[in-house]
Amino acid sequence: MQKYIIKGSNKGVRGSVDISGAKNSCLPLMASSILFEDTVTIKNVPFVKDVITMCNLLEALGSKVQISEKNKIIKITNKKKHKLIIPYRLISTMRAGVLAMGPLLARYKSCRSAMSGGCALGPRPINFHLNGFKKLGANFNINKGYINISAKKGLKGNEFKFPKVSVTGTSNLIMASVFTKGKPTTLKNISIEPEVLDLINFLNKSGSKIHFIGKRTIKINGVNKLKGISHEIIGDRIEAFSYLSTAVMTRGKIKVNKINPKYLTSELQVLKKMGCEIKIKNSSIELNANKRLKPVKVKTSPYPGFATDNMPILLAVLTKVKGKSIIKEQIFTNRYMSAPELVRLGASISIKSNKATIIGKEKLYGAECISSDLRTTFSIILGAIGSQLSIVCFMD
Ligand code: EPU
Repeated sequence: MQKYIIKGSNKGVRGSVDISGAKNSCLPLMASSILFEDTVTIKNVPFVKDVITMCNLLEALGSKVQISEKNKIIKITNKKKHKLIIPYRLISTMRAGVLAMGPLLARYKSCRSAMSGGCALGPRPINFHLNGFKKLGANFNINKGYINISAKKGLKGNEFKFPKVSVTGTSNLIMASVFTKGKPTTLKNISIEPEVLDLINFLNKSGSKIHFIGKRTIKINGVNKLKGISHEIIGDRIEAFSYLSTAVMTRGKIKVNKINPKYLTSELQVLKKMGCEIKIKNSSIELNANKRLKPVKVKTSPYPGFATDNMPILLAVLTKVKGKSIIKEQIFTNRYMSAPELVRLGASISIKSNKATIIGKEKLYGAECISSDLRTTFSIILGAIGSQLSIVCFMD
């Protein structure tokens, strides 16, 4: 088990920081490399655990992955035919492994993937992905924890409407559709998260034909081949919000660089409502939180709404904003995992169904905490930063 010992601070953080490339942009882009015969170069790569796991997954499938951590670059080359099995040991540690299904199906007409199962955020079904593949002409069956998918005659263009916006569902269906034969594919009610737009942009630069014909509707005309290119991934809006929140928690001042402020429109509106001073430029955000802050009411929703990934971070911040704040989580069923740990630090949070009521306190105190997923961990770390000495342990 890993452990952090954090000494909280009354001093406001000060400084400026460059934001890394977006993990959730990097993962689908890496998976999409399966579609290419040429080399794909991805720049501005954040070398976090999931990215390394995706490197391992691509290597297990037969890709050659060259890493330069110093230059933040990954090069992926596919000299040989891929293996068509996505193994359990890799998908069980990183749910984004399901993103290999779409490109494998598109290029090889079949694949076999371990079922991803649930995760720390609650049940994580992939029925939208599978029903979408079915609409494109694939059949699937589930046997001994594996999903076998095949489209004997190759995937064919068709229409699919997502019952609910899904980020990886959208990316998977886009990747499955780039080589479809026959009529164009129309995907409706898609995710328009910046990371999905980054994937579309990358694929179009490589020769795909993906066009928006409505706010959440795209048309994809199948092509025969993609050409390998180099692409720099966008900045990570969740990391940017994490840094901004650190300044809010400590009533400090921060500038985050290399991030498009548009990716955080809803989040910045919330911070402004709370009383933070915010200045935005093309690719930076400056925040000053030295005024008295006010409580807020926030609902999470798909982009351009307030991101569910940023919710646990805001939750921690609100524990020290005097008054009653309310959060409604509308994406996942189990996203308040940091709440009981923040309560151990002295916070007042009560959860009823998907609604959290937070009564802001002046002080939090140190305690030992335990954590699970990425955002929960940062939420607790932020609580610890706003308190006296705290110990945060990570579950392995
Ligand atoms: N859903 C279904 N069926 C599906 C797919 C999704 O019912 O087939 C439901 C989910 O259960 C959930 C909702 O639809 O209630 C949205 O889930 P979505 O598919 O959008 O989530 P995801 O694609 O699995 C991505 C990010 C998550 C982020 C969510 C929501 C990646 C690799 N992961 O997950 O990021 O929380 O979108 O924005 O892009 C993180 O970075 O820490 C993280 C968990």
